[in-house]
Amino acid sequence: MAQQTVTRFTESLDLFAHAEEVIAGGSQTMSKRPSAYAYGAYPIYASRAAGSHIWDIDGNKYIDFVNALGPIVLGYCYPEVDAAIAAQLEKGIIYGLLSPLEAAAADSVIDAVPCAEMVRFLKGGAEANNAAARIARAYTRREIILNTGYRGWSDGWNTSRNDGGIPAAFASAVQQFRFNDLDHLAELFRAHDGNVAAVSLDAASLGKEPEPGYLQDLNDLAHSHGALVIYDEIVTGFRLAMGGAQEFYGVTPDLATFAKAMANGMPLAAVAGRKEVMKAADNCIISITYGGEALSLAAGVATMNILRSHDVHDHLHRTGESLRAGINRAAANAGVALEAYGLAPIGGERFLDAKDAEEEGLMWHFLLAGCAQRGVLLRRGGVNFITYSHTEADVAQAVAAIEDALHELRRVREAGGLASAVSATAEPHTDITRTL
Ligand SMILES: Cc1ncc(COP(=O)(O)O)c(C=O)c1O
Repeated sequence: MAQQTVTRFTESLDLFAHAEEVIAGGSQTMSKRPSAYAYGAYPIYASRAAGSHIWDIDGNKYIDFVNALGPIVLGYCYPEVDAAIAAQLEKGIIYGLLSPLEAAAADSVIDAVPCAEMVRFLKGGAEANNAAARIARAYTRREIILNTGYRGWSDGWNTSRNDGGIPAAFASAVQQFRFNDLDHLAELFRAHDGNVAAVSLDAASLGKEPEPGYLQDLNDLAHSHGALVIYDEIVTGFRLAMGGAQEFYGVTPDLATFAKAMANGMPLAAVAGRKEVMKAADNCIISITYGGEALSLAAGVATMNILRSHDVHDHLHRTGESLRAGINRAAANAGVALEAYGLAPIGGERFLDAKDAEEEGLMWHFLLAGCAQRGVLLRRGGVNFITYSHTEADVAQAVAAIEDALHELRRVREAGGLASAVSATAEPHTDITRTL
């Protein structure tokens, strides 16, 4: 049996009650809101982290598979990266003059990524995707982008999910296509003939892997219409392989965007691509004050050096496979229809037999709470982010915790007591319906 030691989240809940009064939405990242996990029965605030572990402000310690939603690829406080940041800190954070690290980091990306002949650095994934769209439109002198998947929170990309703050006029500029459906893409090309600047996609994401030949056919189709191909490698970049999904699948896009794993947690993002295309950026307004911020560039250079010189990607694949096999074994032992699936370094799990969305919400709450109580942090329906610091012992401990939580889940579900058991796992003053 995995140890059940974590019981209280009082400090976290009290601080979040205050945060909700002073921070719109309570947090800076939607996927980090407590309502995205198991409200009342899951930690909210971190006090520190090291390697594969994180501590909350109530003093509880966990093996972390959330890892900041992907940026942590080597592990928290990875010594060589932190030393590079500390060394740069002594020399200054950012200047009006350029930092020599800009070219060094560009060299690292070009060395790693098949499509990269030139690079521009930004701070986050949305910014990198905005830059890619602008470069593609400027280069082709066309307006429409055919897209599938999430590209960040910007106006120009969220045309299919308007929350009231996006001008309707933007809607025609990005058209959504179905992944793995080349006919649908061809149809959109016919409908917008001569005005498609680019096709934009994650070459692979959780639950979506390309069918054999799809990526090459997509490249050929786009190019036959004079359009570019942009891979969003915000999650896959430097994680699935050193050169991202494009190296993993052996198909090279014209442009690609990167963030998350490239700097082990520091805010560094990039758009990279063919020189001829990237040169269009010379005359575009792609410009941020914090471009060239040197702590992140130092972290990026150090991270990419370690990724290149250590067997990090083998480790991520191997450890991800272990976790997946362990979760599937645990689910089978517990008699719960939970499936771990997806590519090993970006895998996740899903419930297969929830009656409806509400029961699925309860099952997730119960599982996340049960795992947290046993010292393991997972994410609701999201990717399990493995790092170079996760060991087989971490995986074994996590799998034991998951199996215990699943046995309990089966018992309470069969007894018809899931909703009341979920309420009981939460702190008495919390409203668990916030996570359903
Ligand atoms: C595939 C993908 N693209 C873009 C983004 C946006 O990145 P950011 O949140 O850094 O703006 C994300 C964020 O999770 C992502 O998963």
